[in-house]
Amino acid sequence: MAIRIHDTAIVEDGVTLGKNVSIWDNAHVRFGASLGDECIVGGKSLIAYEVQIGNRVKINSNVYICNGVTIEDGVMISAGTIFTNDRFPRATTPDLQTLRGSEPDEHTLQTTVCEGATIGAGCLIGCDLTIGRFAMVGMGSVVTRSVPDFHLVVGSPARSVGVVCRCGQPVHRFSEADAVTGAIPVTCECGLAYEVEGQAVRELFNPGAGSSARQVEAASNA
Ligand SMILES: CC(C)(COP(=O)(O)OP(=O)(O)OC[C@H]1O[C@@H](n2cnc3c(N)ncnc32)[C@H](O)[C@@H]1OP(=O)(O)O)[C@@H](O)C(=O)NCCC(=O)NCCS
Repeated sequence: MAIRIHDTAIVEDGVTLGKNVSIWDNAHVRFGASLGDECIVGGKSLIAYEVQIGNRVKINSNVYICNGVTIEDGVMISAGTIFTNDRFPRATTPDLQTLRGSEPDEHTLQTTVCEGATIGAGCLIGCDLTIGRFAMVGMGSVVTRSVPDFHLVVGSPARSVGVVCRCGQPVHRFSEADAVTGAIPVTCECGLAYEVEGQAVRELFNPGAGSSARQVEAASNA
């Protein structure tokens, strides 16, 4: 399978595309953006200039990814999600006489979505934050703070409510008792296992690290 770009999509000069990338109808990828192997960009999505996207990333339709955003491998961004990169945006200078440029400047803030994370449909993602490895953001959430690895967050503002497995299945709901219970072993029905202490999540086996089991410190600054 080769790179597929729909006739109505716009891929500007200076875009780097990996193997087997698919870009669907009316999507727009701006100059300097980079997409790794086997990425899918859904119809009507816009990827701004210089956005860096890893391998096997799924971007559904009507997604807006602005400058300053980095997306690591295996991330899913569901339909209608919008990223931001300026906390206090203005169109013009204070006297209204000069339109501000769209190029990155001192107001442009960075956001990283780490490997394996999912962002549900219709989310709004604030800036100057990190969405952790294999975290899951529930549909319709407004993310204003960084999300620790493996956390499930929902709501506006998004708050951590539990732990999700690499496979996406919720495996633990946070409760007040977690603060005093100590480390809790949690096994997903897919077989992967974690240790949860308070809101810190430790992955007990990393299937992405080859055949040797090794412990991975996963989180948490929560
Ligand atoms: C967040 C999510 C993973 C939770 O799934 P779940 O663990 O099965 O949760 P449940 O449906 O059992 O709901 C548990 C509680 O959380 C609430 N809840 C579920 N999803 C929520 C969301 N996105 N925002 C706010 N609250 C949510 C439920 O109303 C329920 O509350 P209640 O106990 O007061 O009734 C799921 O709802 C979700 O948003 N998935 C993403 C879907 C998506 O965007 N897919 C895009 C590709 S098609």
